[in-house]
Amino acid sequence: MHIVFDRDKCQGHGRCYALAGELFDADDEGYAVVLVSGELTDDQVATAQLAADNCPEYAITVEA
Ligand code: F3S
Repeated sequence: MHIVFDRDKCQGHGRCYALAGELFDADDEGYAVVLVSGELTDDQVATAQLAADNCPEYAITVEA
């Protein structure tokens, strides 16, 4: 599983990096930046899914 982030959908709500700071950070304007690439560990999948579930813009998905 890996993170797919749609920068065009991100509006800078910041829930992803508040809830999953090990996977997401903010850029200078508050938009999300993904910190990991490639295959996630099981723990990271759960954390990434939490971030995805809490993004109001549906900018994050966790895909196989
Ligand atoms: Fe952007 Fe959603 Fe995070 S709008 S900053 S990806 S919570």
